[in-house]
Amino acid sequence: MDKIIIENLNVQYSDGTESLKNINLNIPANAVTVLFGPAGGGKSTLLRTINRLNDLADVNLLKGRVLLNGDNILDPKYNVTELRRRVGMVFSRPVPLPLTIYENVAYGLRVAGEHRRSKIYEMVEKALRQVVLWDEVYDRLNSPANALSGGQQQRLCIARVMSLQPEVILLDEPTSALDPVSTAKIESLLQELSSQFTIVLAPHNTQQAARMSDFGAFFLQGELIETGPEKELFMRPKDKRTQDYVDGRFG
Ligand SMILES: Nc1ncnc2c1ncn2[C@@H]1O[C@H](COP(=O)(O)OP(=O)(O)OP(=O)(O)O)[C@@H](O)[C@H]1O
Ligand SMILES: [Mg+2]
Repeated sequence: MDKIIIENLNVQYSDGTESLKNINLNIPANAVTVLFGPAGGGKSTLLRTINRLNDLADVNLLKGRVLLNGDNILDPKYNVTELRRRVGMVFSRPVPLPLTIYENVAYGLRVAGEHRRSKIYEMVEKALRQVVLWDEVYDRLNSPANALSGGQQQRLCIARVMSLQPEVILLDEPTSALDPVSTAKIESLLQELSSQFTIVLAPHNTQQAARMSDFGAFFLQGELIETGPEKELFMRPKDKRTQDYVDGRFG
């Protein structure tokens, strides 16, 4: 089943840069979709579009449709608050709130309207378990979040997103600031979560793209060059440009 259907999407920044050129892409549910390719290909622009973060950026042209469960999220009438509950976003640098570990997760739950203390505790614990952080922090939930390691902070940021029970999780180079051990933890966590959620990942290098791909999409200078299931784009790409990139000949 396709969770997100992107139809004829064009995004142009106000300086005239055409960051996405007529993109058509179906993103499957319950899988990790990797968007990969060299710098400037449009991966971050696409992730931001799916979360309507481009509403705040310098975009002067946005055409096409992005259907989530069949509804066009680019429609001005689409409720953006609702969208951001359904579609969570994780960025490359973990940015915990200047609060305790517990409050980092609880805060969003309260904003979302949950005020029962025992329910909040239950949801915080569940989210911290989902990101395999609970065992490392259960005895210091009231310590400041910024005392955690970078990898722990990133898992905390993912927990914050998870606690709102999103349907889709977008991640833009979530491990680019992390060491290999933390990176491996996040990768296995995402693979675990993909059985229940739709995950869209802009990986931070080709090796990570190949490791994580249940479905891959190769972007080059605003164009979607090709897509393929599993590791196909890394083993047997059809387009020479994908082949060259995967072989490390450019980018
Ligand atoms: N706010 C902006 N204003 C103007 N141009 C932008 C803006 N953000 C991105 N661009 C341009 O849009 C194009 C796509 O950029 P984008 O950041 O989406 O690529 P990317 O694939 O995520 O690259 P990277 O691998 O470096 O993260 C680039 O040419 C970039 O310079
Ligand atoms: Mg990017």
